[in-house]
Amino acid sequence: MKVKTILITGGAGFIGSHVVRHFVNSYKQYHIVNLDVLTYAGNLENLKDIEDAKNYTFVHGDISDDSFINALFQEFQFEAVIHLAAESHVDRSISEPLLFAKTNIMGTLNLLNAFKELWVDDWTGKRFYHISTDEVYGTLGETGLFTESTAYDPNSPYSASKASSDHFVRAYGETYGLPYVISNCSNNYGGFQFPEKLIPLCINNIVHHKPLPIYGDGKYTRDWLYVIDHALAIDKIFHDGKNNATYNVGGNNEWTNIDLVKLLCEIMDVKLNRAKGESQKLIQFVKDRPGHDLRYAIDASKIMSELKWQPSVTFKEGLMKTVEWYLSNAEWLESVTSGNYQNYYKTQYQE
Ligand code: NAD
Ligand code: DAU
Repeated sequence: MKVKTILITGGAGFIGSHVVRHFVNSYKQYHIVNLDVLTYAGNLENLKDIEDAKNYTFVHGDISDDSFINALFQEFQFEAVIHLAAESHVDRSISEPLLFAKTNIMGTLNLLNAFKELWVDDWTGKRFYHISTDEVYGTLGETGLFTESTAYDPNSPYSASKASSDHFVRAYGETYGLPYVISNCSNNYGGFQFPEKLIPLCINNIVHHKPLPIYGDGKYTRDWLYVIDHALAIDKIFHDGKNNATYNVGGNNEWTNIDLVKLLCEIMDVKLNRAKGESQKLIQFVKDRPGHDLRYAIDASKIMSELKWQPSVTFKEGLMKTVEWYLSNAEWLESVTSGNYQNYYKTQYQE
């Protein structure tokens, strides 16, 4: 049987590493090429367990370098792309918006263009899968859910750059016939997430008895999904999703930030043998994020009914597994929080 060569971008990052591991282990008939430039968020340690697999190749490179990308596509003749590489942190997009445009918009455009150059004469059996976010829909009020037909209304430079990249994917579908699929997912959590994001940041700070910074009044709401369940959704959508369709992916699991951090504190007290309530004393309300979206919540009924996907763990199970992962991977946490992370933290939290 002919081996299918699939490009996964951003595979050394948080979600990407789970997706690469899942595809390399589950589909020996695929050759998985992981392209990553290894920013602060990308780490080859995340893929140690599969780095010698026969059906896996790592390529170090930048999606925003168009001549490099064109040459890479010519060399490997990728039949499919699963595109996760991005600048992904909202707070960083507020201080560095141009970088977000370069990576998330121009990088995506380079991949689309290289894919078009290869296959525009015959798209049979080809697929470009773009991984996007629910943040493109902007913010919800107290009620309602994001559906696949909710109008785009992004509020941060991050979400604006992701919205723009989604539009380019659709435009390549309409204009050149490029077969694509897009998914827009809610907040992920789990092992290997860089500790700039709320959950691993709080786990790390609790371990070190440092303050837990809650933006504004803490009533902002997110819909949390365990990262392995996102990887399984990506598998379903990649294999069975309809061409030129969008799928919303979410956990049907809304938490205000303050309630979530309190739950995390309870779990950590038990795991660290601390007195009940000790970690909660670390909570500090701090200056709000500019343009902070009040609430995200996904209507995932389309992927559930069409592709028979649903989350496999409850939030408490997922959070417990996540805490256990960070506590038993203290070296990983230590290595990613040394060096530049300290400068980032000082600037972001004005320490
Ligand atoms: P991440 O920041 O952990 O990882 C991003 C990866 O992309 C890193 O390995 C980084 O080195 C790589 N990268 C960045 N710029 C690159 C470039 N120019 N060239 C090549 N590689 C580059 O991000 P994540 O949280 O794993 O998110 C992955 C994707 O999923 C992103 O597209 C993000 O928008 C989307 N998403 C994330 C979430 C979430 O909760 N984390 C939810 C929905 C969608
Ligand atoms: O919804 C999907 C998105 O989820 C992804 O597209 C993004 O890549 C991902 O970073 C995430 O974005 P958020 O901004 O929702 O995630 P973050 O972990 O940064 O913040 C979650 C909530 O917690 C948000 O309301 C801001 C708040 N927060 C965050 C940090 C880092 C705090 O209160 N304090 C903090 O220190």
